[in-house]
Amino acid sequence: MFVTFEGIDGSGKSTCINKIKEYINNKYDANNFVFTREPGGFDLKECEQIRNILLDKNNIIDSMTEMLLYLASRKMHVERLIKPALENKKIVFCDRFYDSSIAYQGNGRSLGMQKVENMNLEALNNFKPDFTFYFKINLETSINRMKSNNRNFDRLENEDKIFFQKVIEGYDYLSKKEKRFIVIDANQSIDQVFDDVINELEKNVFSMLK
Ligand code: ADP
Ligand code: TYD
Repeated sequence: MFVTFEGIDGSGKSTCINKIKEYINNKYDANNFVFTREPGGFDLKECEQIRNILLDKNNIIDSMTEMLLYLASRKMHVERLIKPALENKKIVFCDRFYDSSIAYQGNGRSLGMQKVENMNLEALNNFKPDFTFYFKINLETSINRMKSNNRNFDRLENEDKIFFQKVIEGYDYLSKKEKRFIVIDANQSIDQVFDDVINELEKNVFSMLK
């Protein structure tokens, strides 16, 4: 089972994923699970190197090249980590996957959502997540969260509100189009968001362990 987490920067994905890890460690056998993230990938040197190129705010990268770099990293991530783990019957959780490219590069950077989706599906041989949690949040709320945490804005996080609004539109479009999307109200408190996600995971994912 392959589960991904999506949403704009500051929507609370990482916070919630850390709580899921704790929950799993207390309740289930952690050996059944793999946690990874994009860009990059847990323990994959080449993918992490591409991540560093992408997130370095001093690099000048045009939108198509940016998309191709995300995809190059993703291809290695899928073939070397995600698919082998799924073949070993693990449940794989990934912080961001190709829906990020569709929303950020496809709509945010105006490359075209369908084009980005097609390029990803082509390169990944139609490999898709089983479930995708979309942390849906108001732009102002996410900006305030990042500001109040003095978060070091990386290259993408410095972009203007119009860009993020387009990213949100991209995710909203996907959430209507894709049955695998589970929309979570990410404006809620950390505990409420976590409860909503765990309820869905118990119903759709952890049930396969029992
Ligand atoms: P993401 O991984 O989606 O970029 P984070 O989990 O890093 O988001 O959250 C961004 C910031 O907002 C963090 O500093 C975190 O402590 C805070 N935060 C996360 N979720 C919530 C929430 N539900 N309510 C208030 N603050 C939150
Ligand atoms: P990261 O620091 O991991 O942010 P977050 O904690 O919000 O997940 O940085 C990832 C950044 O990369 C984020 O701004 C979204 C962007 N991104 C894309 O633009 N396209 C992609 O395909 C992926 C995977 C990420």
